[in-house]
Amino acid sequence: MSQRKILVTSALPYANGDIHLGHVMEAIQADIWVRLQKMRGHQCIYVCADDAHGTAIMLSAESQGITAEELIGRVQREHERDYHGFLIGFDNFHSTHSEENRGLAESIYLALEGNGHIARRKIRQLFDPEKKLFLADRYITGACPRCGAGEQYGDNCEVCGSTHSPADLINPRSVLSGATPVEKESEHFFFTVPAFSEMLRQWIQGGAVHEAVANKLGEWLGEGLQDWDISRDAPYFGFEIPGHPDKYFYVWLDAPIGYMASFLNHCGREGLDFDAWWRPGGDSEIYHFIGKDIVNFHTFFWPAMLESAGYKKPDAVFVHGFVTVDGTKMSKSRGTFINAGTYLKHLNPEYLRYYLAAKLGPGVDDLDLNLEDFVQRVNADLVGKLVNIASRCAGFIGKNFDGRLAGAVDNEALIGEIRQASGEIAELYEAREYGKAIRQIMAFADRANQYLNERKPWEIAKTDRRAPELQAICTTGINAFRLLAGYLKPVLPALAARAEEFLAIDPLAWADLDVLLLDHRINRFRPLLTRVEADKVRAMVDETRGEWEARQKAGGKADRQAQSAPTEAFAAEIDMDTFAKVDLRAARVAEADFVEGADKLLRLKLDLGHDETGNPIERAVFAGIRSAYDPADLENRLVVVVANLKSRKMKFGISEGMILAAGPGGREIWLLSPDSGAKPGMRVS
Ligand code: 2FM
Ligand code: ZN
Repeated sequence: MSQRKILVTSALPYANGDIHLGHVMEAIQADIWVRLQKMRGHQCIYVCADDAHGTAIMLSAESQGITAEELIGRVQREHERDYHGFLIGFDNFHSTHSEENRGLAESIYLALEGNGHIARRKIRQLFDPEKKLFLADRYITGACPRCGAGEQYGDNCEVCGSTHSPADLINPRSVLSGATPVEKESEHFFFTVPAFSEMLRQWIQGGAVHEAVANKLGEWLGEGLQDWDISRDAPYFGFEIPGHPDKYFYVWLDAPIGYMASFLNHCGREGLDFDAWWRPGGDSEIYHFIGKDIVNFHTFFWPAMLESAGYKKPDAVFVHGFVTVDGTKMSKSRGTFINAGTYLKHLNPEYLRYYLAAKLGPGVDDLDLNLEDFVQRVNADLVGKLVNIASRCAGFIGKNFDGRLAGAVDNEALIGEIRQASGEIAELYEAREYGKAIRQIMAFADRANQYLNERKPWEIAKTDRRAPELQAICTTGINAFRLLAGYLKPVLPALAARAEEFLAIDPLAWADLDVLLLDHRINRFRPLLTRVEADKVRAMVDETRGEWEARQKAGGKADRQAQSAPTEAFAAEIDMDTFAKVDLRAARVAEADFVEGADKLLRLKLDLGHDETGNPIERAVFAGIRSAYDPADLENRLVVVVANLKSRKMKFGISEGMILAAGPGGREIWLLSPDSGAKPGMRVS
């Protein structure tokens, strides 16, 4: 097989947040693939970088009282440490805020401009008159123009599902300053993506993405692409557009160019020819591993930019789904939004590498980390099956045969079968069918254990501790273990390294899995992996939740100290009769829960006492208070509810009333409660 030249990337994490399990899963998926390629003797280079530009990073540095450069420098060190902790073997980790990236972004932009693929036109956008910057949708909140729900972001309402423009919000406010935004015009630069529709269609149909993704992209192409706004006005942390002071490249323009920049930086150190990899017509292969939320950037804008600028397009974009924990979206208050650093404080990275690999496939389905299953599966497979093979045989070889393996195995058929699977297992890895590969490998581990159960070396040792048969059986077991550890090496590189040390062999390459280890002296066996302890998993979750709670408290205090916004204008006067129409009641929160798929809502079951016949009166109410309250803290507390509000059909169900709270939103929501002593159902007036 001739040597392939393969460049692999995983998505660049933003330089203002921690690496969490979502990032880790993607990097593990890519890293397994890269390690397989390297083991098979290919030239495979895996690069990544921090995605260091944009308004969010600029504001985050500002609020911490440091420069953006200081922030991204610190975060890059943390990111590198976390990835390293999970044994991600990047060949280079760089930053989009680098000279390589500036040079590439400028030259690519100039190529697009030179080819007539940049259009300029004026647009109107909301502007924060206090902070003096244009506001992206997520920096504007206000009440929904359709259902009136408060605290909805720019473009869609989580309560009723309406989509709207931020300018339509009632009482819009800048999240940054609390000021009322004003509309302002400015000139923007657009990349004319529709000019590439046909090229993109062909590229997508040519197998660049998984079928499920290709179908979705086909639909979007059918609806028609639009010009892409690639400029942002100052102040902005990024690269200025050449020749246009105060205009900056939008972060998403130079982010994917960061893949190239990281590679270019690597080329400088390693003496590689950048163009030989990135210009069309060469023999390199380029693959991006990404999540399903950023597909359009990688399958429309990016290949179109590369095409216009005369670079090679990726051979494929490998798209994965999200990580869920115990069946639901990762949640900070539940302690399941787990950071890489927190995981690593409590648990061995290879547990997670194995668990994720065992569940990963080439598709875009979400992957659930079920914490109970995690403990059970890692212990059963790795400790109970894989390592067990070695530990059952090693002692006899060490003590009775001076560490020497026999000159032949006792069960050629078993070893032959395991060896023959090498091609098929490599193909499964290549196709990113990791789950299937692991199932095959574990089926062999079962067979090897079964073989040892049948041959019972421990019985033979009782009668003749130096029996040649005993040596041959254990040599079979050790060889089975060596092959399986080799097959798992892309997933479990540290375990494989310990196995190599124990077996006294050079680092295993895929081709080595064709030969057996015979008449060879191995080292003393030391435990290769300890069991996962459920306590440690719990400690990790508790720590994650604790950190979140501490931040909530600290944030709450800061909010109270901050100068609050001026009192909002009062609504039009009403008379007593009108007010009397509103039936306010005390209620007790009987149940409170998260709402799957809604970031702001909690579902409450309210107890409003009982009717004359003693039947309980209950109401189901959706409240947009998740940002301020943990459901567990609400149970049994008294609240005030508008009891005669007409039921409203919302995106997530019917809401039968509304509870009252003060505050503008976010963490600043304070529920109204009658003093204790009030009984559910009592009138509030
Ligand atoms: O979504 C994100 O986290 C982006 N920072 C990913 C960028 S990937 C690439 F294009 F740079
Ligand atoms: Zn709404």
